[in-house]
Amino acid sequence: MNMSWIWRKVTALPVGRICRRLMQPGMIPIFISMPQPKSVAESSQALFPDEGGETILNMRKQLLGNQSFFSDLTATMHKVGQYHDIHDDWFQFLYLVTRLAKPMVVVETGVFAGLSTAFILQAIKDNGRGRLVSVDLPAENVIVGSTDRMHDSALPPGCDPGWIVPPALKVNHSLVVGNSQEVLPRVFEKHRAIDVFIHDSLHTAAHQSFEYAIAWSRLREGGILLSDDIFWSPAFHEFCRKHRKPYLHVVEGRGAVRK
Ligand SMILES: C[S@@+](CC[C@H](N)C(=O)[O-])C[C@H]1O[C@@H](n2cnc3c(N)ncnc32)[C@H](O)[C@@H]1O
Repeated sequence: MNMSWIWRKVTALPVGRICRRLMQPGMIPIFISMPQPKSVAESSQALFPDEGGETILNMRKQLLGNQSFFSDLTATMHKVGQYHDIHDDWFQFLYLVTRLAKPMVVVETGVFAGLSTAFILQAIKDNGRGRLVSVDLPAENVIVGSTDRMHDSALPPGCDPGWIVPPALKVNHSLVVGNSQEVLPRVFEKHRAIDVFIHDSLHTAAHQSFEYAIAWSRLREGGILLSDDIFWSPAFHEFCRKHRKPYLHVVEGRGAVRK
C-alpha cells in the first residue's frame, strides 16, 4: 500500500468530502484499498491493451478538434441558461471507450442534461455504427442520492432529460423514461446482449448493485461495465470483488471493469 499517496489523497480532499467519508465508516477500507486513479489516456490503454497509443491519441484529437460538437453544446447551454462542465475528462473517456469497443449496443442509466449521452452518441457517429439506449427518471426536482451534489440539481423548467444532445446525433438514440429498476428489465428483454453499460443514475448501494447485476448478466463476454460515482457506496467494489474482476479507477471516482 502506498502510504504517501494515501496521505496526499486525504490532505487534498475538501473538508466536506472528508466529513462525508468519515460519516460512512464502511467506505474507509474501500477508500484505503482502492487502486490509484488513472488518467484518460492511461485508462483507455489499460482497458484496450492491444490498441496502439497512437490510435487512442488520434481518436482523442478527433474529438477535441470537433469544434461544431463543442460549440453546439455551448450554444445550447447559453440558450437554456444552465451550465455543465463539458470538458470533464470522464466524457472524453466515454467517447474513447465507445470508439475503441466499437459497440453495437450501449446502455446507460442517468441522462440529466445529456452530456454523457452526447459524447457516446458522437463516438457512435464517428464509428459509423451502433446504438445507445439511455434510461432516466427525470429530475424535475432534486433527487437525493443522485443529483443532490450537482451544481444544478434539477432539470431546467420545460426541459426534458438529454436537452443538451445535438439533434443530429439522436438518430442512433433511444431514451426510455422511468425508474431503472422497472425499466431495465424491459430494455434487456429487447437487447439480450450488450457491449457497454454505464451506470450514472441513483447511487444508493441497493440501486447500484441492482444495475450492475442485471447489466452484467446481459453484457457479452469481453463487454465493459463503467460506473460513475463509485465512492458513493461500497456497491461497485463489492461487485468487482464478488466477480473476482480487478477494476480500473478512472479519473477520480469512476470505475471500469471488463467481463
Ligand atoms: C448524475 S445525473 C446523470 C448525468 C449524466 N450521466 C452525465 O454525466 O451527463 C443522474 C441522473 O439519474 C437520474 N435518476 C435518478 N434516479 C434514477 C432512477 N431510479 N432511475 C433512472 N434514473 C434516475 C436523475 O434524474 C439524473 O438525470
